[in-house]
Amino acid sequence: MAASKLPFVSVNVAITADGKLAPDTRHFIPFSTKRDRDLMMELRSEADAVMSGATTVADGEVDLSPGGQRYQQKRIKRGLREYNLRVILSGSASISPKAYIFGTHFAPLVLLTTEAAPEERLQKLRKVADDIFVSKGRNLDVVAALEWLHAKWKVKRLLCEGGGEVNGALFEAGVVDEIFVTICPVVFGGRHAPTLADGDGIERLTGALPLKLKRMEQIDQELYCVYRVLKESRGRT
Ligand SMILES: NC(=O)c1ccc[n+]([C@@H]2O[C@H](COP(=O)([O-])OP(=O)(O)OC[C@H]3O[C@@H](n4cnc5c(N)ncnc54)[C@H](OP(=O)(O)O)[C@@H]3O)[C@@H](O)[C@H]2O)c1
Repeated sequence: MAASKLPFVSVNVAITADGKLAPDTRHFIPFSTKRDRDLMMELRSEADAVMSGATTVADGEVDLSPGGQRYQQKRIKRGLREYNLRVILSGSASISPKAYIFGTHFAPLVLLTTEAAPEERLQKLRKVADDIFVSKGRNLDVVAALEWLHAKWKVKRLLCEGGGEVNGALFEAGVVDEIFVTICPVVFGGRHAPTLADGDGIERLTGALPLKLKRMEQIDQELYCVYRVLKESRGRT
């Protein structure tokens, strides 16, 4: 049987010194510097698709865009489409069709969802999304969804920008290849605040995902770390 094809998957987040992505409220608070936001745009300019979860996308004016002419030019020079594909994961289709992102039309928007999504919600989302992948089960079949993105939308590089639940799902599925994490000099606390990877997590150290630190740079008060995941992602050829 021919091997399936998965995109190369990067995760990029900014975390507080206590490992949070946001406060308990799960409302976005910008806490990293402009340099970190420039890194986010730089990474987007290398990706065929940028993905986030329903909670992240629903909160404010998130559009997953390439970030303006300068980055669009970089994309073209790299042989990529001028605009990245935009991907939203919403397993129960909880995201509102009135979310800000659906009012922006510069690049295709794809929704990844599951059989648990009520048909009524899906019908409304079909009108605002360019394509929808419906996975078996209540939790997204991450591998099947990534294979679909690769085959149908030609996604060879996927950048995931959180939040913690979506990142956790990708880690659990074993599809993450590298992690960009910017550690910022603040503490949020909050026992229910999202972290770099949420979801069920592990029980024993043997279940931990081993990483190799590829680069680390301190710029002013922020630490920029790049990790490679020390295992073969399933199915990539
Ligand atoms: N600091 C940073 O770099 C950064 C980056 C991104 C986000 N954030 C912050 O993080 C917070 C959001 O993170 P979050 O963890 O609460 O939410 P999230 O990961 O953005 O979205 C969670 C939603 O995604 C869907 N989902 C996630 N995993 C799934 C799976 N395995 N199967 C099916 N659906 C799945 C579900 O949608 P349904 O509800 O539709 O089922 C779930 O409710 C926000 O405050 C945001 O501002 C910070």
